[in-house]
Amino acid sequence: MQAATQMKRLALAGTAAQMTDISMQDLIIRRPDDWHLHLRDGDMLEAVLPHSSAHFSRAIIMPNLVPPVTDCASASAYRARIERALPKGHDFTPLMTLYLTETTDADDVVAGFESGVIRAVKLYPAGATTNSQSGVRDMEKVYPVLERMAQAGVPLCVHGEVTDPDVDIFDREAVFIERVLEPIRRRFPALRIVMEHITTQEGVAYVRDGAEGIGGTITTHHLIINRNAILVGGIRPHYYCLPIAKRESHRLALREAATSGNARFFLGTDSAPHLDPAKESACGCAGVFSSINTMACLAHVFEQEDALDMLEAFASLNGPGFYRLPVNEATMRLTRRETPVNLPDKIETKSGAVTVFDPMFPIYWDVDAKA
Ligand code: DOR
Ligand code: ZN
Repeated sequence: MQAATQMKRLALAGTAAQMTDISMQDLIIRRPDDWHLHLRDGDMLEAVLPHSSAHFSRAIIMPNLVPPVTDCASASAYRARIERALPKGHDFTPLMTLYLTETTDADDVVAGFESGVIRAVKLYPAGATTNSQSGVRDMEKVYPVLERMAQAGVPLCVHGEVTDPDVDIFDREAVFIERVLEPIRRRFPALRIVMEHITTQEGVAYVRDGAEGIGGTITTHHLIINRNAILVGGIRPHYYCLPIAKRESHRLALREAATSGNARFFLGTDSAPHLDPAKESACGCAGVFSSINTMACLAHVFEQEDALDMLEAFASLNGPGFYRLPVNEATMRLTRRETPVNLPDKIETKSGAVTVFDPMFPIYWDVDAKA
């Protein structure tokens, strides 16, 4: 894009995004947040947290630990463990969630939300993904909790896949919208819902065209890979995650949505670390670890889409808008280098290595979160 056009688009966007350099190699945005993150616990937490807290101000923390975080007392204890693991000088706020079960106590949810202990409740259909065995089997059993959440304004974060064995894994998101999400939305029109890590055109359309109070997160990796990355030329377990990446037309729809500036779409990395042996196995775990290079990869994607001026909306503005939180005051500088920047292929934890998401293109963007 020509510099003048880029400047004009930035001015029209009316955000804090600035190009500080006429050559457009230098982008300053408000510091981003991650609206869907797995930090785990123990050694893994210690190893992965610094990569999120180096770049992001806040993150919605997934509760699918073993055992899961199902009440506010456990959420507070988990938050304290995260805070203890935070490197000195990192300014990062974990936003806690509760794992919805068929026995969740609605009073605990509402009290926890009102006192700021939790920011959302997470729905995992039982069996849909990693550590989801305690999730919901019969949706009607959680309707009383959803009703109270709708009244109190507690957002419901949704892993949107059905688990019925007769539904093909590539169709599970689209079928979920029809069979589960739309009935919930109709029954509880005031419920605020985040359809997390959308992977399909149907997911994009549902969030974009749906009723008030619906948002959708999109991961970095689903903007970059389609299902060929997992399956062509050999099976590549480090690209396996849930919901599974779909065909190319879906990836293009996700790119369109993320770069559109539409306030309903925001970043949730779903960075989900597993030790390498657990991924490189005859029955490997689902999850892509991307917190470390997400912002650099996103700058690449938004540059490819000629939409660098929309990166701030996606990563830093739309999420707080949905969650009714202030945007971050601090800023981040992204600089496009002439030669690729070096990022690690793996990180080490005390229990072994975790492979970093490989976008399969050289990364030219350098991230300075202290800008
Ligand atoms: O790929 C995934 N990994 N998807 C999920 O929903 C869960 C996550 C994990 O916890 O590993
Ligand atoms: Zn997740």
